[in-house]
Amino acid sequence: MPAPAPAPDPERLPGFVLCRGGLEEVVEEELRELEIEVVGRHKRAVEITTNLAGFYRANMGLRSALNVLRPIRSFNARNYDLLYYQSRKTNWHKLFPVDARLRIDVKGHSPKITHTRYAIHRVKDGITDTFRKLCGGVRPSIEKRDPDVHIVVYLEKHRATLALDMSGTPLFKRGYRIEHGEAPMKEDLAAGILSLSGWDRRSPLLDPMCGSGTLLFEAWMMAAGIAPNLHRGFGFESLLDYDQALHVAEKRKLEARETHPEDLRLLGIEIDPGTGSTMERIRDKYFPKSPIQLRRGKFQNVNPGPGFGALVCNPPYGLRSGTEAEIMPLYSDLGTFIRTYLKEGSAAVYTANHDAAGSFGGSQSSSIPLLNGSLEGRLYRLKQAQDDPVRSG
Ligand SMILES: C[S@@+](CC[C@H](N)C(=O)[O-])C[C@H]1O[C@@H](n2cnc3c(N)ncnc32)[C@H](O)[C@@H]1O
Repeated sequence: MPAPAPAPDPERLPGFVLCRGGLEEVVEEELRELEIEVVGRHKRAVEITTNLAGFYRANMGLRSALNVLRPIRSFNARNYDLLYYQSRKTNWHKLFPVDARLRIDVKGHSPKITHTRYAIHRVKDGITDTFRKLCGGVRPSIEKRDPDVHIVVYLEKHRATLALDMSGTPLFKRGYRIEHGEAPMKEDLAAGILSLSGWDRRSPLLDPMCGSGTLLFEAWMMAAGIAPNLHRGFGFESLLDYDQALHVAEKRKLEARETHPEDLRLLGIEIDPGTGSTMERIRDKYFPKSPIQLRRGKFQNVNPGPGFGALVCNPPYGLRSGTEAEIMPLYSDLGTFIRTYLKEGSAAVYTANHDAAGSFGGSQSSSIPLLNGSLEGRLYRLKQAQDDPVRSG
């Protein structure tokens, strides 16, 4: 007789982790490290099943993700009236209090729901009518800038999913970038690039155009096992089922994973004095235990010394008119610098200027497409560590 199927765990909840295109596999790996069950991979999203503790852990511990969503209701969205009707049928009053300030956004695409503002309007009407009826005319208010509860209408082909954004503010906002240089990199992208670069989290790492240091800070947190979002607030804290003791317990578990890597070297080079000082101020305030060092000047004039096992960087793209003439020599110099100082290990350069990437010289082993906002960036892997398989070509 076949063994009876295990009873479903009533605490298991479905979830969707959103990320930028190209980082789905990296996010999947991060979820596994956080012991969260992955059940599927989609375009710019990874599907999970977990419990409240898992949602809290994912928000604090994920490095390359943007938002963690908790789906509430999924349905066939043939028209805008269905958005109202399904929203009206949802027990929102069991999820958040009537005085919550809400923000509603639409993500994804559907052939039938193309007017985003109207879709938001219909869902908002459904939510407010639910509360009005149950709470004697009182209803939540709308607050776009600093909401308590963020609701996402996730569209995928003909299906719409109403979801609570457990993150609230997107996860790339760690809180350490109080100031920055020109064209800083978003933190989730920096972490994703480091994971795709082939860096082993132990070898000395060099960023020869470090700007305000995002790659170096993310590298430090990866090497030291520091969860990147331990000290910020989340959308889940405004929900009625928020369990503060559980949140603190998960935070302590993540803190227990921290290590103190000895002999780790993280070196940045930066030509702009103001940007270099910004990097040092952020380092001293938020990462005082990190070994991050700065050499000021042009990387072309700096000898970083021997032993660097990895290089990761994000040079200027020079996409503004008038800058092309300076950019090609800069990329060519970077190629020479890598061949001179990176005898071993891996080198990966992220840029949206693909013409300039042709100036690196030497042989490029692969490049990986990764969107940076609307810019179609690619991560060029100029050198790969021996044991590092290429993830995509
Ligand atoms: C796109 S930004 C890097 C942003 C950085 N990843 C961050 O998140 O802040 C490029 C940086 O390269 C610096 N830079 C440009 N040419 C350089 C050179 N020859 N040597 C060193 N730094 C240079 C710029 O001043 C700028 O801060």
